Amino acid sequence: MIDPKDIDWNNLDFSYIKTPYRFISRWKDGKWDQGELTEDNMLVMSEASTALHYGQQCFEGLKAYRRKDGKVQLFRPDENAKRMIKSCNKLLMPEFPIERFIDACKQVVKANEEYVGPYGSGATLYLRPLMIGVGDNIGVKPAPEYIFTVFCTPVGPYFKGGVTPVNFMISEYDRAAPHGTGANKVGGNYAASLAPHEEASKLGYADCIYLDPETHTKIEEVGSANFFGITEDKTFVTPNSPSILRSITRISLVEIAKKYLDLKVEERDVYVDKLDEFIEAGACGTAAVITPIGGICYKGQLHVFHSETEVGPIVKKLFDTLSGIQFGDIDAPEGWIFEV
Ligand code: PLP
Ligand code: COI
Repeated sequence: MIDPKDIDWNNLDFSYIKTPYRFISRWKDGKWDQGELTEDNMLVMSEASTALHYGQQCFEGLKAYRRKDGKVQLFRPDENAKRMIKSCNKLLMPEFPIERFIDACKQVVKANEEYVGPYGSGATLYLRPLMIGVGDNIGVKPAPEYIFTVFCTPVGPYFKGGVTPVNFMISEYDRAAPHGTGANKVGGNYAASLAPHEEASKLGYADCIYLDPETHTKIEEVGSANFFGITEDKTFVTPNSPSILRSITRISLVEIAKKYLDLKVEERDVYVDKLDEFIEAGACGTAAVITPIGGICYKGQLHVFHSETEVGPIVKKLFDTLSGIQFGDIDAPEGWIFEV
């Protein structure tokens, strides 16, 4: 295991680095046990676990941030807990209670505190809560037992360059079906996105953007983040679709845009052939934070927004405000920050 003293905090990327402790709790006979911190990063399960065969699995992603005063805080972990409950309901898995979810996250951060990057480095401690169906079962039905675990890993930017623009490509494939699991954070959505992502990556794009699976005319989201655009008249526009993941970063940006930047906000359809309504665009998510979109390639044509090399002024302001709140430099709206 790498000693935190040897981590190059300013140059971390989004990779797995093993940390000393993770939380684990098991569900059996209709209830969760009290859970514990463990040093063992291996999960042992029956070969007949539904998570291995039928994708009965869901996960979350959130970060712990080091403030200027040295303290550590979480950003809206209650929202992650609620979203995981929705994923569990969708896949017939038992709910992990909100308060216990937050407590497990806090325990993991406290136990691995030296792995929360120093203030100013941009590094954070990424938490990955997940639930899997385990136990002996072979028919297509919910598992008899479950494991809930939260591990953490220190990370830097998800897309290379942080606040430098990246280009995306419109995918011809779908990550989610119209009335399927697109709005849930379940592994199957990501399995479906691996090949389209690799295709985009081979062509030199940071990731792909999916269109609505029903008509292929409207922007849905990036494989790992939501989309937003800024119009000439300073409106923050973000797609409103039942098959995209309700990004906690996006719902936060909607409030930040209104309350801190005095922008108008519209959650509505975004047509892929009307990209010229935007003067700036970005991808937002826990891992992606706010990644400015330089351009989007659609049917062989690259549509550039503000610039392929420079972040636009409004996306920059959104980034600075969001990061300021997450790292404790700017006062957050009531209830967003959970000190560890
Ligand atoms: N969309 C997808 C498909 C994601 O995987 C993520 C990451 O969690 C997001 C959007 C952004 O969501 P959040 O801001 O809650 O991290
Ligand atoms: C996140 O932003 O937390 C994600 O889960 C995105 C990605 C790493 C899948």
